[in-house]
Formats: sequence, structure tokens, C-alpha cells
Amino acid sequence: MTITTCIFDAYGTLFDVSAAARAVAEEPGAGAFAGVWQDVAGHWRAKQLQYTWIRALTGRHTDFWQVTQDALDWALDRCDVADAELRERLLGLYFTLAAYPEVPGMLAELKDAGLATGILSNGSPEMLQGAVDSALIGDMLDAVLSVESVGIFKPDARVYDLVGAYFGCRPDQVLFVSSNGWDVTSASAYGFRTLWVNRAGEPVDRLPDPPDRIASDLTGVAGLLGRFS
Ligand code: LAC
Repeated sequence: MTITTCIFDAYGTLFDVSAAARAVAEEPGAGAFAGVWQDVAGHWRAKQLQYTWIRALTGRHTDFWQVTQDALDWALDRCDVADAELRERLLGLYFTLAAYPEVPGMLAELKDAGLATGILSNGSPEMLQGAVDSALIGDMLDAVLSVESVGIFKPDARVYDLVGAYFGCRPDQVLFVSSNGWDVTSASAYGFRTLWVNRAGEPVDRLPDPPDRIASDLTGVAGLLGRFS
């Protein structure tokens, strides 16, 4: 079946989740943070995702901005960083995360090819708007879909349902693109065609429903579409 709609995960896929901590570490006067920023970034992301899964499974939803703050607090505590100003700086940068460099060109290629495009993310609408605006990619996206409209995080199927509800397409007409292996395998199980963006060269998750395709970055997405027909 021909792909009509390309849907992207946001954090880690279009937007570089390590960019906030890296930027602070590179600032003059970063001090001790320059030595621990990678640990902070790693713990921040890992806890952020764990908290979404646990909140979804236990019916304790709150929005992703709260989860992001809670995860950062855990990560800073874990790395013995007690600096309220630094915390605010990291959160401010997270709200306007940089997109990976190939993102604008890749989205432009998809629009030129007549594809519908969108984001489907755990992010709150405000966070997603902040990131999309700072990356200047809003004109190339037909929809920015947030889990907040269903009040539960990925990988609950109600989140993936948002795509068909908005675009009026079937799951097998959707290419779902994510750098998160768990998100890709869940999207495959749902019935989307899937592309895993494996920037770090990680092994494929030992889970059912593997990705249909794997790429090392987002440059070739438009060229891959024909291979799903
Ligand atoms: C998102 C997370 C999973 O954007 O990165 O949905």
C-alpha cells in the first residue's frame, strides 16, 4: 500500500534531546557541569521516558513538561548538581531544542513529493510549539499532534489512533519515523509502516514487531517511500 502520510516522533527524532545540556556545558563558566553534562543528559532522558511509561501504566497522567522537570530534578540530584539557575537554564533550552540539521530539507522533500506530514509526540502542545517555532519547520508540517488530547503517553494505542483520526488514513498508509526503538516497535505493532532512525548504531530491540526499515539519520526518508509500495 502506498504511503500517504509521514509522521515523526519529536524528542530524539526531530529534536536533539542532548542539545540543552551540551549547550550549557559549552558556555564559558560552565565549571563542573562541563564534566558531568553527558551523565545528566543521559539520566534526564532515561528517567523522562521511564516516568511516561509508569504514569501510563498506573493511570497517573501529567503533562510531559512536568515529567521533563521531574526527570531533570532526579538527574541533577543523581549527579550532585544543586544549582537552581542552571536548572532553569536547562529547562529554557529544552523548550527551544535544536532540530537535527537535516530536518528542514527532509521535510521540504516530503512536501514537494505531495506527502502529508506531522508530529506525533508525548510533548505538551506548548513544548511542541516552542520547538517547532525555534526550528522554523511549522510551514512544512500539516499537524502537530500531542498526547494531551487523549491524556495518556505512548505507547498506548489511543495515541497512535490520533493519526488516522486527523488525516483520515489507514495505519498501513502511514510511515512512522522515530529514533526511539520502543516507539517504533509499538508503532509497528499498531499497524504503521516504520522507520527507525538509529543515530547511535544501537542493536535492534529484542521485542516483537521490529522496524520495517532502519536509517542512520533522516536524510533519506523521501527516497525510502517507494520501497514501501
Ligand atoms: C516523543 C518522545 C517519545 O516525542 O520522544 O513522543
